[in-house]
Amino acid sequence: MGDNPGFLSTYLPGVDELLGDGIPLGSSVLIEGGPGSGKTIFCISLAKTLCERGKKVLYMSFEEPEVRLRSHFRSFGARIEEYERNGLFYVKRFNALDIARSVEALLSEAKRELLVDVQPVLIPPDFDPEIVLIDSLSSISSAFSGEESRFRVYMEQLFRYLESHKMTSFLIREVANPTHVGNMFVEPGEAVSFLSDGIIVLYNVFFQDNPRKRAIEVLKMRGSQIDRKIVECEIRKGIGIVAYPNKILKGPYTLT
Ligand SMILES: Nc1ncnc2c1ncn2[C@@H]1O[C@H](COP(=O)(O)OP(=O)(O)OP(=O)(O)O)[C@@H](O)[C@H]1O
Ligand SMILES: [Mg+2]
Repeated sequence: MGDNPGFLSTYLPGVDELLGDGIPLGSSVLIEGGPGSGKTIFCISLAKTLCERGKKVLYMSFEEPEVRLRSHFRSFGARIEEYERNGLFYVKRFNALDIARSVEALLSEAKRELLVDVQPVLIPPDFDPEIVLIDSLSSISSAFSGEESRFRVYMEQLFRYLESHKMTSFLIREVANPTHVGNMFVEPGEAVSFLSDGIIVLYNVFFQDNPRKRAIEVLKMRGSQIDRKIVECEIRKGIGIVAYPNKILKGPYTLT
């Protein structure tokens, strides 16, 4: 399957079937889930499938050191040196504290003017990506410790920047509990749910007498008719995330 005009496909096995038409170009999509639910691997395997199809991808990590990330990429079959040679891939580790400090400085300079230009802080000036992956908003949020309103300002600016530059973005957000299955508005930074155009959730599934499973759901995608169901998925060696659209999760189970 190729891309529908105006939409992006993930080319991750099974995932595009859940996405209907695909992801409208220029969307900001949250990749949510608990610890170890597969968020980073989702983004790594996505970067790979997209670079393989000639898309220009920026991977910004606030978590893992660059060396470890690179070997992680390779373990999922990504030929990153080749993508880099072809100008398709840029991976960089950022320090969230640097960003928090810059925002702080910009905000005090701008006084009550909240229009802060995030570009100098974030996007490498010599690379103009079509796709941006950020791992993770949660790391950025914790660098703004106790300054929830500054984090919000920064997020609004970031989403606006990505939108105005027509970049399609995937932003990882760690959640302690799946916030969309009962617990409302308990997470700091919940505002990003409303700023985003789409939400894909990865679940750790707990069964009383069974081993855990993994599951995936496309919860929201503005501008695309999605197939809303929670289905099984796996992390496959050399591939990454593989979803099974026909394996709807059967209870009793708990999503974590
Ligand atoms: N090469 C691999 N093949 C198969 N499974 C793997 C591989 N590497 C990691 N895993 C499994 O995938 C799980 C999810 O990894 P991932 O780093 O994507 O989670 P995450 O949601 O980003 O977690 P965190 O919130 O801690 O960053 C790991 O806990 C591990 O069990
Ligand atoms: Mg991760």
